[in-house]
Amino acid sequence: MESLPNSPSPVHEVPRGEPHLRDAADGTGEVATMKAMTLRIPDGLAVSCRKTPQRAAWLERLPDVLRDLEHRWSLTLEAPFDDEVSCAYVAAAVRGDATPAVLKIGMPHMEGEHEIHGLRFWDGDPTVRLLMADDDLGAMLLERCEPGTALRALPECEQDVVISGLLRRLWRAPSAQHAFRPLSALTKYWSDETLAHVERWPDAGLVREGLHLFAELPRTEPIELLLATDLHAGNVLGAEREPWLVIDPKPFVGDPAYDATQHLFNCSARLQSDPDAMIRSFAELLGADYERVRLWTFARAAAEPRDDWNNGEWVAFARAIAP
Ligand SMILES: Nc1ncnc2c1ncn2[C@@H]1O[C@H](COP(=O)(O)OP(=O)(O)OP(=O)(O)O)[C@@H](O)[C@H]1O
Ligand SMILES: [Mg+2]
Repeated sequence: MESLPNSPSPVHEVPRGEPHLRDAADGTGEVATMKAMTLRIPDGLAVSCRKTPQRAAWLERLPDVLRDLEHRWSLTLEAPFDDEVSCAYVAAAVRGDATPAVLKIGMPHMEGEHEIHGLRFWDGDPTVRLLMADDDLGAMLLERCEPGTALRALPECEQDVVISGLLRRLWRAPSAQHAFRPLSALTKYWSDETLAHVERWPDAGLVREGLHLFAELPRTEPIELLLATDLHAGNVLGAEREPWLVIDPKPFVGDPAYDATQHLFNCSARLQSDPDAMIRSFAELLGADYERVRLWTFARAAAEPRDDWNNGEWVAFARAIAP
């Protein structure tokens, strides 16, 4: 889950599995070997896949998976999206009936495990529609957003209004027998990861306070609704069916106040220069509890796992809004 906006990334290439065989174009009946195709892998995704052997194995299987889906779902695939991609292989596709779509295959990662399930739940309101899915492969054929411009292109104060409107629509109670995970599963997962790197913490008191809230806030939830947990202006795209549609939900059931945090972190300059004003105005747009939004924001800034614990920016911010 990103805390700061991704920057545009270069691409890596991996061999695209077995060379395809096809008939020679000159009609001699000979079988010519096509050049082994290469699969372009966006840099953000390549970096994520280097982190665990399970993901490296997933990347190795990807060419076969793509070939299988191209065939089974009658797709013609285009080049993958390069920007804002860190956890999935995503490419524009054209279906057999010539309609546009997007193919997304999620890399194994805890936060995104229920994306398909969430898209079924929201069923296009206000997310993109799920056209086909293979749960075992984590593969989704999605309604394509056109023009697909990210909400990030708009000034932040306009983003606030769009994102708060979308979150209010996303927050719905799942059925009694739902299979979604509680928000406490996410905070527990993050806490374990942070605790594994205790020697790197810059301010143990601050991190412990954040970890305490990661355990405490889910226990005092006023209401439990289905959350997107990663809704920010890079995951909202301009579309035709509606002005803006949500992509890339990472559903968990819990306190809606939590769902304010990702957009706040993505507006980092505004958030850090006047945390109280930013948190208060966004909480108001959301109709969410200001105090709980502030506590969630503090907990994430203080205790969320990160690659670089030496970055003082978020430590200073956490100190500034500490309870
Ligand atoms: N339905 C869609 N229509 C058009 N473009 C799409 C669609 N889904 C994804 N994209 C493009 O692919 C990019 C990556 O998609 P997505 O955010 O789902 O990937 P991700 O790797 O899970 O992202 P993150 O890094 O936020 O976890 C988007 O920023 C967008 O440019
Ligand atoms: Mg995304």
